[in-house]
Amino acid sequence: MHRLKTRFAEKFDDEIRFIKGMMSRPKTVGAIAPTSSRTARAMAEAVDVNSRLPVLELGPGTGVITRAILQHGVEPSRIFSIEYSEDFLSHLRVKYPGVNFLHGDAFDVFNALPAHAGRQFDCVISGIPLLNFPMEARIRLIEDLLDLVPRGRPVVQFSYGPVSPVIAKPESYRIKHHHFIVRNLPPAQIWHYYRPVS
Ligand SMILES: C[S@@+](CC[C@H](N)C(=O)[O-])C[C@H]1O[C@@H](n2cnc3c(N)ncnc32)[C@H](O)[C@@H]1O
Repeated sequence: MHRLKTRFAEKFDDEIRFIKGMMSRPKTVGAIAPTSSRTARAMAEAVDVNSRLPVLELGPGTGVITRAILQHGVEPSRIFSIEYSEDFLSHLRVKYPGVNFLHGDAFDVFNALPAHAGRQFDCVISGIPLLNFPMEARIRLIEDLLDLVPRGRPVVQFSYGPVSPVIAKPESYRIKHHHFIVRNLPPAQIWHYYRPVS
């Protein structure tokens, strides 16, 4: 019972922190509430727990998806997570010790990653509010991220629109609709972007 209460209190704190972030930086936070745990789990399940490669997370916010990746069985030190907001970062570093939280801009991913992160990840799990950025920037981001994962492995992105937030470019990447989750505020779609193996 005590653990349940603590969990509710933590969730409430995170929601308040998120709303404050949304009010001060509406374009970059880009959502009215943190992602639901169901959506976060559906995103995290893309991670291959047996891979020796690290996982790259973008826009962790209050850490809902970070937690789902950890609960999926990934060691904290295997996660590199890039966040723009210093406020979210200071909270995340206390809440999820051992995860490599990095201050930086996901749209400048090569500069945001320190040398020790390497340049290859098992997959990318992104919470960036893509719809708030121009289409050319979204395409460039997906292509940069796909340069960081092996062929066949996904860049996972959620979005609130009915269609993929990044237009098709079959000569460069494929798009797969992974999930539609009604239990999210608002309902969310999960998309996988990948380069085919051959
Ligand atoms: C829609 S919120 C998602 C937060 C969290 N992942 C979740 O699912 O609840 C977007 C997050 O991306 C961060 N963000 C937005 N643009 C960014 C950028 N260019 N680089 C890094 N983080 C960014 C925001 O600060 C915010 O934490």
